[in-house]
Amino acid sequence: MRFSYHFILSLLLACLSHCSSNVNISGSAITTRYWDCCKPSCSWNGKAQFSRPVQSCDIHDQPLSDFTAGTGCNGGAAFSCTNQSPWAVNDTFSYGFAGVYIMDHVEDYWCCSCYRLNFTSGPVKGKTMIVQAHNTAYDIITADRFSLAIPGGNTSTTDACALEFNVSQSVFGESMVGVTSRSQCDDLPTAMKSGCHWRFDWFEDADNPSVDFERVQCPAALTNITGCVRDDEKELVSSSSAIPSISPFSSLIMTTIVIIVAFLQVLT
Ligand SMILES: *[C@@H]1O[C@H](CO)[C@@H](O)[C@H](O)[C@H]1NC(C)=O
Ligand SMILES: *[C@@H]1O[C@H](CO)[C@@H](O)[C@H](O)[C@H]1NC(C)=O
Ligand SMILES: *[C@@H]1O[C@H](CO)[C@@H](O)[C@H](O)[C@H]1NC(C)=O
Ligand SMILES: *[C@@H]1O[C@H](CO)[C@@H](O)[C@H](O)[C@H]1NC(C)=O
Ligand SMILES: *[C@@H]1O[C@H](CO)[C@@H](O)[C@H](O)[C@H]1NC(C)=O
Ligand SMILES: *[C@@H]1O[C@H](CO)[C@@H](O)[C@H](O)[C@H]1NC(C)=O
Repeated sequence: MRFSYHFILSLLLACLSHCSSNVNISGSAITTRYWDCCKPSCSWNGKAQFSRPVQSCDIHDQPLSDFTAGTGCNGGAAFSCTNQSPWAVNDTFSYGFAGVYIMDHVEDYWCCSCYRLNFTSGPVKGKTMIVQAHNTAYDIITADRFSLAIPGGNTSTTDACALEFNVSQSVFGESMVGVTSRSQCDDLPTAMKSGCHWRFDWFEDADNPSVDFERVQCPAALTNITGCVRDDEKELVSSSSAIPSISPFSSLIMTTIVIIVAFLQVLT
């Protein structure tokens, strides 16, 4: 009997220190740019514990309800939705989306999490973005990385944007670079123009600036676009900092359980 009470108690204590550990993530990272028009990796069922996968769109940029649809980069019907583009809230703050890679983890760790990115180099140094991880960036795994989703910000080998919008691949700019001037944004499909302009306006055409990042509670402005809310978001709710706190109610329950267990131990 003694053993099992000890066991329960240590489980509770282990949970106190580890059950929330996935939410307390921060560090320094590199950024890149991408916009490949493919179905985002977090748009599949079961990629993480979340309310539903990230919204993807059909070839006409309309929301798809079938999360099993294959990617348009491989003959399937699902593409990225152009409304998952960055936008400026004011001179120093923007919202957006990113393909994420965090070292030693796989995508259930980041899919649909939101991160505050404080830029630490280039013309955007001192500016901040909050991004939601709508995709995974497994192509470079030598550093923690946020590949910012910026229309026209990069090309890809699959030419899915050309397919989706029935335009020449050349309008998307140079290989691995994307368009190189604000005026080239005007050649893009209409739905991709404003996100492309953002790069030359708010983002000041920064060349893959570095960031300090921390996980934050997802703003409705972002989850409203992807439709995806992680189950562990609620562990961030009671805390304004990156460190999760325990609500007074759960502390009360925890204290009560500890007292009962201690009392039963005295009896046995
Ligand atoms: C959360 O992260 C901070 C900074 O990395 C660290 O100091 C702190 O100990 C962490 N807290 C928990 C509960 O993991
Ligand atoms: C474009 O994408 C490729 C492949 O992911 C990447 O290596 C490159 O750094 C990207 N370019 C920019 C400017 O981010
Ligand atoms: C910009 O917007 C953010 C988010 O709403 C806000 O926290 C910040 O104070 C604003 N900054 C300025 C300079 O208005
Ligand atoms: C794509 O564009 C070409 C020429 O602009 C046109 O002939 C063709 O019908 C278009 N295809 C689709 C599927 O809209
Ligand atoms: C980002 O900057 C804000 C404002 O200076 C600061 O409160 C926050 O701790 C910073 N976060 C990171 C991860 O550096
Ligand atoms: C986004 O927010 C608006 C305004 O609150 C609401 O009308 C709309 O239904 C929301 N869309 C989604 C997909 O949640």
